[in-house]
Amino acid sequence: MNAPNEITVHECSLARSSWDMILNHTAPVFVQLRDQPDFPFGNCMIYFTHIFYKRLFDIHPFAKGMFKNVQSQGRALVQILTIALTSTEDRVLYDQILTQLAHVHNKKGVKAAEYGIVGEVLFWSLRKCLGEEVYNTTLHRIWIKLFSQMLSIIIPIAVQYEVTDGRGQERRFIIKNIPLSEQENLAILRTEEFGHGEDNARRSRSVDMGNTHRIH
Ligand code: HEM
Repeated sequence: MNAPNEITVHECSLARSSWDMILNHTAPVFVQLRDQPDFPFGNCMIYFTHIFYKRLFDIHPFAKGMFKNVQSQGRALVQILTIALTSTEDRVLYDQILTQLAHVHNKKGVKAAEYGIVGEVLFWSLRKCLGEEVYNTTLHRIWIKLFSQMLSIIIPIAVQYEVTDGRGQERRFIIKNIPLSEQENLAILRTEEFGHGEDNARRSRSVDMGNTHRIH
């Protein structure tokens, strides 16, 4: 008998059929849209990755600057999801692929928390392509299980990286994208005026802000 969090053969085949509709360009909403004269996509996979990244950058604009080539990245995403659905028998290889992927993402500065956003974007994009009738509650729950299974490998590696060396992630969010507030700048100036060393300035900054994550 399967444990409640395990994906059954039946569930996997349901998810695979829904994914095949995207790979074979037969996803119901896509098929309807394709008939409209001004619809620019003849390929469902390209449509899927287009709406996926558009949605990602709409709700998480900080992610935009991280990607060099969204098209090739889209192909990589489709590839990894296909592997997720076809390698259920070879768990060892699958786990190795995900471990490798987690390290690639760590180097890119991806935060553990961002995987949740990507999950939501994935489910949204699947629903958008497949339509409510195909992407019903049952199918949604299966995709949640599949995605969560991926995260069970990726997240511990991301968290481990963040607790040992999260500087890359912090700079991307706090320094580059969110300017320091006037209060923060004043706190830094105050400590510099009193001629404390760099370590004290850092400590003071984190105490002033009541936020240990400010140490970088
Ligand atoms: C489980 C969720 C995810 C999957 C399955 C996934 C999949 C992939 C794959 C297959 C690659 C290509 C890796 C390679 O070239 O070796 C990649 C690269 C990348 N991913 Fe993800 N990813 C996920 C989550 C995220 C998140 C949360 C972010 C950040 C918001 C992100 C940002 C990136 C970036 C910036 C690259 C490199 C792209 C480039 O160099 O243009 N990914 N991802």
